[in-house]
Amino acid sequence: MVRIPTAKDIERELYTEAEIQQKVAELGAQISVDYSDKRIHVITILKGADAFANDLVHKISLNIPLSRDYMILSHFKDEFAPSGKVNLLLDLKYGIKGRDVLVVEDIVDSGHTLNYLVNSLLLPREPNSVRVCSFLNKPTKRVKEFKHLKIDYLGFDIEDAFVVGYGLDYRQYCRNWPFIAVLKEEFYKK
Ligand code: IMP
Repeated sequence: MVRIPTAKDIERELYTEAEIQQKVAELGAQISVDYSDKRIHVITILKGADAFANDLVHKISLNIPLSRDYMILSHFKDEFAPSGKVNLLLDLKYGIKGRDVLVVEDIVDSGHTLNYLVNSLLLPREPNSVRVCSFLNKPTKRVKEFKHLKIDYLGFDIEDAFVVGYGLDYRQYCRNWPFIAVLKEEFYKK
């Protein structure tokens, strides 16, 4: 049976709702400056990045024409593919040729998902540009071959801990928590 995390399972809040919203506002302001003479085509990687992307687009200047599309990717790790295989579960609705694409991700961990997304799924479709905005990054978890992957806009570098909230899930739960938290070790052991 899947255990469902609740407030009593939280070890600590890593980022409060206020800290998150402050960072989102900063990222939106920077993106607004960098794209002031362009249009932005925002691609949200579901499901984890939905909360972040929805907040972020509200902080981008209304003077910048902005369109949106979505993808669902999943990174499976099992005994046959211990390094992980990334699957495309939902593709874009619209073409991206010639567009300035801004990918919005929740977290970059090993880098498998981001590498596959950018190099195998997006660049072959000939966008004008692709930049990446990720709310979180775990630099110590990046595998060697993906060390070079660029995150153009980043919320926070975090330690190597499993985090939940603000879109990030534990077995589909906790995505609605407005803060980012680390769960108690005992929770995973029970
Ligand atoms: P990567 O392919 O190893 O970089 O993994 C990226 C994906 O793994 C993210 O988009 C998340 O869906 C998931 N993920 C990685 N770390 C965490 C975490 O700490 N909490 C929840 N999901 C995570």
